[in-house]
Amino acid sequence: MNQPLRIAEPAPPVEPLLDLQVEGKAFGATQVLGQVQLQLQPGEIVSLLGPSGCGKSTLLRLVAQLDQDFTGVLHSRPEQIGFVFQEPRLMPWLSVAENIGFSQDQGYDRARVAGLIEEVGLDGFAAALPKALSGGMAQRVAIARGLYGQPQLLLLDEPFSAVDAFTRFKLQDLLLDLARRHRIALLVVTHDVDEALYLSDRVLVIGNRPGTVCRELRVKLDYPRDRRDERLARLRGEALEALHSARVI
Ligand SMILES: Nc1ncnc2c1ncn2[C@@H]1O[C@H](COP(=O)(O)OP(=O)(O)OP(=O)(O)O)[C@@H](O)[C@H]1O
Ligand SMILES: [Mg+2]
Repeated sequence: MNQPLRIAEPAPPVEPLLDLQVEGKAFGATQVLGQVQLQLQPGEIVSLLGPSGCGKSTLLRLVAQLDQDFTGVLHSRPEQIGFVFQEPRLMPWLSVAENIGFSQDQGYDRARVAGLIEEVGLDGFAAALPKALSGGMAQRVAIARGLYGQPQLLLLDEPFSAVDAFTRFKLQDLLLDLARRHRIALLVVTHDVDEALYLSDRVLVIGNRPGTVCRELRVKLDYPRDRRDERLARLRGEALEALHSARVI
């Protein structure tokens, strides 16, 4: 007897959270970015890894629409985007709580600020001024401020490059924990190969002048990850090979 033919239902396509197609970006006569296709799914963690001057910060600014002067199309972007910079950029005259809650046009929500202070491990420092904080603590405030607007995507531009290695490890784990709790996507710019691999679902290696994606590495490892995992070491070799091929190192 003939079995009825069963046709598998195709999985519904997931609308990308971010879809930016850059054809080119120049400052005056200097072509900084070439073709770059940047797509992020909801909750995905992607790193941009590349040398100084290849256009990583420029690309983040295009995503955040801080710069709209480029050739290409921003097909989709989340409504709320948070930004964390290399330096914490805190207002020195405002307390920790005020720096977090007065950062946007959203009104000051005391409960949300208190929750974020606890989540980033700064209990007891709500009233402290930035000068009383270590570099790592100040960056925790910056992350809380980035999350205050309840973004679907947090952009981080070399967020941990100014802190020591041990603090960096702690902040990386904090960031992964927050991304999972808040169900947000992360786009992280870094120079640090190990940081990119430890944090990300995908690493985009950006080559020099004009900046384009010369390699995409998928890190198919569950979280939480072990920094000593041999599979991370193998991927490190691949990332270094890609950087070498792109004549970055
Ligand atoms: N506003 C600007 N006006 C003119 N040139 C700029 C401007 N912003 C960036 N550039 C140039 O564009 C290039 C890319 O800069 P960008 O800051 O994006 O690099 P990057 O990859 O973030 O580097 P780094 O790792 O050092 O932060 C650099 O050569 C820089 O001088
Ligand atoms: Mg930069």
